[in-house]
Amino acid sequence: MTGSSVSFVRFTPCRGACRGTSSWRGSALTAGTIILQSVILSSCSGVQSALDPAGPEASDVATLFHVMLIGGVVIWLGVVGALFHAGRRAREPYSERTAGLVILWCGAIIPVIVLAALLSYAVWLMPNMRPWSSGGEGGLRQIEVSGEQFWWRVRYLDPEGNVLFETANEVVMPVGERVLFVLKSPDVIHSFWIPSLGGKMDMIPGRTNRLALEASKPGTYRGVCAEFCGPSHALMAFSVEALERGEFEAWLSGRQNAASNPGSQGLALFLRHGCNACHAIDGTDARGTIGPNLSAFGARGTVGAGTLPNTEEHIARFIRHPSEIKPQARMPSFGMIPEGDAEEIAAYLKGLK
Ligand code: CUA
Repeated sequence: MTGSSVSFVRFTPCRGACRGTSSWRGSALTAGTIILQSVILSSCSGVQSALDPAGPEASDVATLFHVMLIGGVVIWLGVVGALFHAGRRAREPYSERTAGLVILWCGAIIPVIVLAALLSYAVWLMPNMRPWSSGGEGGLRQIEVSGEQFWWRVRYLDPEGNVLFETANEVVMPVGERVLFVLKSPDVIHSFWIPSLGGKMDMIPGRTNRLALEASKPGTYRGVCAEFCGPSHALMAFSVEALERGEFEAWLSGRQNAASNPGSQGLALFLRHGCNACHAIDGTDARGTIGPNLSAFGARGTVGAGTLPNTEEHIARFIRHPSEIKPQARMPSFGMIPEGDAEEIAAYLKGLK
C-alpha cells in the first residue's frame, strides 16, 4: 500500500452486454441448482446422517450445523457484496484512511465478533453431550465399546460395572433413555460415531472416554469409526438398534441365554480348526478373547463389521480369506481348510440366534 490510495483487485460485474443471453442461462442455472439441491438434500436423511437426528444430542449437532451454515452464508453474502462494491468503485479508489478502516473492521473486528459468537454458541451446546450434564454417571445404563483393528467389542455392564455379556459390531439400546458409552481402545486411536444419535468421541489406548447418548425414536442406525486407524478403517462399522423399553428388556434377557447348539457338527469343526483360540461362543468351550465374540452371530446383519451382508456364503468366504475382504484384518487365512468345513462352520454360526 503506497501513495495516497489503495487499489483493490479489479472486478467487473456483468452489466448490459450479457443481458441478451442471460434469460435462458438463468433458467438453466436455476433448474441445475434445484436438481443439485434435491440430490444433495436427499442424502441428508437415512441411517447414518447427522442431519436426520434421532436423539436430543444429535438434534443439538444438527442445530449447530444449521446455525453455522446460516452464519457462513451471511458472511459469504457480506464478502461477495463488499467485492461487488469494490468492483464498482474500482475507478475511484478509497483514501488510505478508509482502506485502513475497512481492513480493521472487515479483517479483524467483525471476524472476531462473529467467530467468538459462533464458538460461544458451540461451547454452550457441548455439555449436553457429556454424561455429567445430566447430574453424573450414576444410574445411567452402561455399554462398554472398545474399538479394535477393525471391529467393535461391545460389553453390556451391570450397574456395578461388571460385564453381563459380550458381543461385537452391534449395539442394542432402549429408546428414551440416556445410555453411557464407556469407550476404550487396546491398539490405536479409533473414534466412536453414531451420526444419527450424536457427536463423535475418540477411543484412545490407555484411556477411558465417556459419551452419553439417547435415542428418542425406535429404529436402526449406523455407527462408524471416525478416525483413520489403518487400511480397513473404512470397513469398520456397526449397527445400532433402538428398541422400546419392553422389547429391549426382552432382548437383554434373551441375549444372555443365547443358543449355542452344543451338539452340532459345525461347532465340532469350529473347535477342531482352532477358531476358539480367538473367538468365544457363550455356552461352549470356545472362550477366546482376541477376536469378536460370536454368540448369537446369526442375528447380526453383517459379516466383518458392516462389510458384507450376513449370509452363509459370506461367512465361509471370510473364514477362507479374511484379508481379501478386510485388508490387514488380524484373523489368519483359513484358505487350506478342507472342502466343506468352512461351509459347515458358516451354517453353524448363521444358526446362532
Ligand atoms: Cu477404527 Cu478408523
